[in-house]
Amino acid sequence: MDYQPKPHILYTREEIAATVKRLAAEIRKDYHGKHPILIGILKGSFMFMADLIRLLDLPLEVDFIRLSSYGRGVESSGTVRVVQGLGSPVKGKDVLVIEDIVDTGLTTSFLLDYLRKKKPASLKLCTLTDKPSRRRVPVTIDYLGFTVPDRFLVGYGLDLAQRFRNLPDICVLEDKE
Ligand code: PRP
Repeated sequence: MDYQPKPHILYTREEIAATVKRLAAEIRKDYHGKHPILIGILKGSFMFMADLIRLLDLPLEVDFIRLSSYGRGVESSGTVRVVQGLGSPVKGKDVLVIEDIVDTGLTTSFLLDYLRKKKPASLKLCTLTDKPSRRRVPVTIDYLGFTVPDRFLVGYGLDLAQRFRNLPDICVLEDKE
């Protein structure tokens, strides 16, 4: 009954910082001369977004979208819907989606389809982590931080029932003895 999961570090804050730096260098190079809009998926992406954009010396815009999903991991088909939409139009813009984790792929796949219909000039995906072992729909990842094992991850924005987002490292949860 008294479940007290204990976080163990999987990726340290230093490893995360080095990875964010590498991703920022790739993005800076590809978007040189462009004015991209970075769209973060709430809530998990907020910390990654904050660190990433501070390393991007580009005339960029930032926006967020909040999605909710039903049936993920239990039902055979997950349904995703927009709970809080974008504040600015994306038509004709270079759009880069920022995600903390691609798991089944349902969330990012939905969002990429949703954004594609709005006719952006380009559309790419950057995710800090990818858990390919759980994939249910294919997703093309343009910028990838870590390929992660099939463990429950928390920290650096990732949560368990809204807890642990504030941990500065990416951790796995294990039962406390
Ligand atoms: C998590 C995560 C991704 C999504 C990935 O969000 O932040 O957006 O799940 O899972 P999928 O690939 O199986 O769709 P969650 O719905 O838990 O909301 P949160 O970001 O507010 O934690």
